[in-house]
Amino acid sequence: MASHSEHHALLASLRWQIAMGADEAILEEAAPRARRTAPPPAPAPERGPEPVRGAAAPVARKATPHGEAAAALAEKASTLDELRDAMAGFTGSPLRETATNLVFGDGIPGAPVMVIGEAPGAEEDRQGKPFVGASGQLLDRMFASIGLNRAESLYITNILPFRPPGNRTPTDAEISLFLPFVLRHVALARPRLLVLAGGVAAKGILQSREGITRLRGRWHQVSILGDKVLMAMPTLHPAYLLRNPIAKRDAWADLLMLQRAMNDGGIGAKEKP
Ligand code: URA
Repeated sequence: MASHSEHHALLASLRWQIAMGADEAILEEAAPRARRTAPPPAPAPERGPEPVRGAAAPVARKATPHGEAAAALAEKASTLDELRDAMAGFTGSPLRETATNLVFGDGIPGAPVMVIGEAPGAEEDRQGKPFVGASGQLLDRMFASIGLNRAESLYITNILPFRPPGNRTPTDAEISLFLPFVLRHVALARPRLLVLAGGVAAKGILQSREGITRLRGRWHQVSILGDKVLMAMPTLHPAYLLRNPIAKRDAWADLLMLQRAMNDGGIGAKEKP
């Protein structure tokens, strides 16, 4: 008989499979062809990154007047409301002119897990909330399968607070410009663990040369919380998973590592030695 924790893992796995669209059990023997139903149509492509493969260049961190202004504004903010106001008033990026809304964050500030995505898409821009389109729905189902949700245990933001026109991928200059705001956002939200959804978030936060397919699946230390080391798990972006369902098993492995870390309490913000 399965132990309590095996039972828990099996249930989580089943929830994930249902969330991923599995609607029938796999039989011991192959079903006759005629009985097989046609696969559902592929979901419409949404905004979101291709994983950065190989040795992607790290984000260039050149000092620019706008970058310095962003850093000064971010540093001055001592609450999330102040940070939101500072970002809304920041005029150093043309993205602000083409976006409908500032997309700041959603969920519970102070939640144990903070997710950082790439940038708002059309629906997020309309609603002023991160991850509310198709990839956001997948993201919600993924986290629900390990018992996490925006109402209690998740806080979500993006590297860019404004939608890039046409959902194009953020440039290195844009990532670098908004990074002081994101880092301050994390420092003020004080999560126990970070999840970096996709290559842009991983590249920005980890300042890494490596692509997401190499970075994912292990914990990375980041120094954002002053005297504390914060652990970050890069994983595949849900928009990528919608286009590449085979990669869902990697995302599931990442989520199980997150769940284990949450349950063990073994990984989280640790005092620096
Ligand atoms: N993709 C992202 O990275 N963020 C969103 O908020 C929506 C889609």
